[in-house]
Amino acid sequence: MDETLRRIPWLRIIAGAAAILVLAAGGLIAIWQTSRSRDFQLFGELVNRVTTEEKVVALTFDDGPTPRYTPGILAMLAEQDVKATFFLIGNEIVANPVEAQAIVAAGHEVGNHTFTHDDMTWATPWSAAEQVEKTDAAIRAAGYSGEILFRPPYGKKFWGLPLYLAGHDRTTITWDVEPESDDDVAADPYRIAAHVTDKTKPGSIIIMHLMYPARDTSRKALPLVIAGLRDRGFRFVTVSQLLALRKR
Ligand code: NI
Repeated sequence: MDETLRRIPWLRIIAGAAAILVLAAGGLIAIWQTSRSRDFQLFGELVNRVTTEEKVVALTFDDGPTPRYTPGILAMLAEQDVKATFFLIGNEIVANPVEAQAIVAAGHEVGNHTFTHDDMTWATPWSAAEQVEKTDAAIRAAGYSGEILFRPPYGKKFWGLPLYLAGHDRTTITWDVEPESDDDVAADPYRIAAHVTDKTKPGSIIIMHLMYPARDTSRKALPLVIAGLRDRGFRFVTVSQLLALRKR
């Protein structure tokens, strides 16, 4: 130890406290980085994109269903002949069963986006179980029979949620194309479409939010996004279909 530190006890205390603070800050930063990572989690399988040479892409829509916007979104997708993946919130499925059933009946994939849309960073395996299983039950009640993929709210997870999911053989789906995360892009439908067309690679997973009033720009962008990707030769698949194309 440095001579000065040995001679002056209070300096040793300050140095010790500083070291603990630095370690704690480092630990918190590591937790924060892990919790928000789009392509890593501590346990179980996480997919943000699939490696394939086929020009396929999955459109995924988070949150809802809401009575106000679901019919219009479904009509648009039907008109464009696109099957998408909806990550729905359990308590909104319970509140809006007709819309959930309509999404299922239209042949779209339905995923689990928790029951209450809480940030799951500090979830325990037990609270995660409740969030996931109540939502699964709501999805089944809406008539959905396929495998139910999972997407955490805000993409956030740390230990309890991934531990539960890994123990139940569930795949976590995030995304690699997120046009709404840049405010400048999100403010204009044409910029959203240009961003998506530019960033999408074979096997990409695109996230958009269409279910709430504030997302008018995203809803306007959807037909442009579809047209732009089709112009580049992309074909639309559900996330499950995308996972089935993975190289083994
Ligand atoms: Ni969400």
